Amino acid sequence: MKAYVDDATCIGCETCPKVCPEVFHMTDEGIAHAIDGKIPEDVQGKAEQAAESCPVEAIDLGD
Ligand code: F3S
Repeated sequence: MKAYVDDATCIGCETCPKVCPEVFHMTDEGIAHAIDGKIPEDVQGKAEQAAESCPVEAIDLGD
């Protein structure tokens, strides 16, 4: 599983790095960015939780 943040949609609410800091961080531009590689299995649940928590649905989880 991989995570992608749509940087045009993210409003910088900072929820995703709070829910799952292993995968998401805030950039200097104030939007979220996901790690490039595969999400480690033990944090996939938290990544899904982060995606569900995003108020503007900017996070996509895919292969
Ligand atoms: Fe942005 Fe959504 Fe995360 S608005 S900071 S991608 S929770």
